[in-house]
Amino acid sequence: MELFDTHCHLDDEKFDPDREEAFQRLRDRGVARIVCVGSDLPTSESSIRFAQAHEHTWAACGVHPHEAAEAPEGYLDRLRELTREDRVVAIGEIGLDYYYDFSPRDVQKRVLSEQLDLACDLDMPVIFHIRDAHGDMIDLFRSRKRLPRGIIHCFSGSQETALEYVRMGFYISFSGPLTFKKAPNLQAAAQAVPLDRLLVETDSPYLSPEPVRGGRNEPANVFYVCQKLAELRGLPMEEMARITTENGCRIYGIPLEA
Ligand code: NI
Repeated sequence: MELFDTHCHLDDEKFDPDREEAFQRLRDRGVARIVCVGSDLPTSESSIRFAQAHEHTWAACGVHPHEAAEAPEGYLDRLRELTREDRVVAIGEIGLDYYYDFSPRDVQKRVLSEQLDLACDLDMPVIFHIRDAHGDMIDLFRSRKRLPRGIIHCFSGSQETALEYVRMGFYISFSGPLTFKKAPNLQAAAQAVPLDRLLVETDSPYLSPEPVRGGRNEPANVFYVCQKLAELRGLPMEEMARITTENGCRIYGIPLEA
């Protein structure tokens, strides 16, 4: 069985004490592929360096809505350069976060739109972070002439919202909260998304799933997310691992043999 953690942050400082051990543990758990995701220019670069130094590991580069207000002059040119590096498969994570509102909303929208234009120019998939902002995000998608391919990462929302994103062509990625006991809406969404649009991820070091909830999360734990998704869809774990791996390789443009 091969699993694909389509979104993690192994470059995060919380992995400083045992990064290589965490990498070995994910391999031991059957996680054959991972994508390390940036949230500003420095973490984009560290994600790329980590990916380049490890087999079957890829990276994404982008400016997260939390960091939008801090995006330096010329950040788009630097991002464009980074996308040319070996192992870079996506722009992300980018989006809107109205839960924390760390950057003013108009700045979040501007930085998002600029990066969406870049993704369309380069024909690269996008990893979207959307928190408490589905209405504005869907409006923004509808108002644009060009939409990139992409992933709604760490999906949090209703079944109806998930299906709206699916109709727009996006993939829906589930993480630790899918396994929580009090997540009926999320679980209903996971049951409705077409099988060929489902992804699993950890977003580690954040959001550890049951039964390891509360501790630092790591990519090995994508096992539990996939197990829950298999249960919700009434499929064997091996089958769900195969489906989510194929979907992950398709959206990121990674050959299945890689
Ligand atoms: Ni993330």
